[in-house]
Amino acid sequence: MPKPLLVRIALLLAILPFSTASADTDKLDRGKYLVTVAGCNDCHTPFVLGPNGPEPDMSRMLSGHPNDMDLPNAPALPAGPWSVVVTDTNTAWAGPWGVSFTANLTPDPETGLGKWSLRNFVDTIRTGRHLGRGREILPPMPIPMYKNFTDADLDAIYTFLQSIPAVVNKVPDPLPPVVLTAAVDSEE
Ligand code: HEC
Repeated sequence: MPKPLLVRIALLLAILPFSTASADTDKLDRGKYLVTVAGCNDCHTPFVLGPNGPEPDMSRMLSGHPNDMDLPNAPALPAGPWSVVVTDTNTAWAGPWGVSFTANLTPDPETGLGKWSLRNFVDTIRTGRHLGRGREILPPMPIPMYKNFTDADLDAIYTFLQSIPAVVNKVPDPLPPVVLTAAVDSEE
């Protein structure tokens, strides 16, 4: 016997909240998965020496280059084909573009992405510019590959990033390339 209309509506209303909740959980899980396999932790989580070698320090997950790290100037770069040097933390990179420091992706409002909207995030990844209009995002951030993420993937990544523990860590601004006249002079 078919259920009376009112009973059917009541059943539907009872199920609805659960289905929205599970769509949210699905998005969060998808975001966590994408962040994991796309390797965001490789650069944005500082590495420490673990029992089996360097590993991301997940107590500072995705908090970027540690501001409190004692960092001497980047060494002179060789002529090539070796072209990049990187700190033990895997978070400060010196190359022909200068020195770049991986960003704090946690939701801390002052030093991370806490004030970013989904639009800010999507615009940054799609254009390779800070917030879609600021300075160019430097290597080795894989913008040329990541700009191919679908809108749904970027939404999921953003949603996951906004859900992780906030870490207060003000990442330094990038440094311009050093012109190595001293090294050239010494060869004469
Ligand atoms: C190979 C290293 C590397 C990987 C992998 C990487 N990043 Fe980055 N990312 C960087 C560096 C370095 C910067 C800082 C570049 C700069 O200052 O111009 C950066 C900057 C960013 C910025 C810009 C922040 C701002 O204030 O403009 C965002 C957003 C970002 N990364 C998100 C991600 C996400 C999400 C992933 C994974 C899907 C990821 N990154 C993977 C190295 C990396």
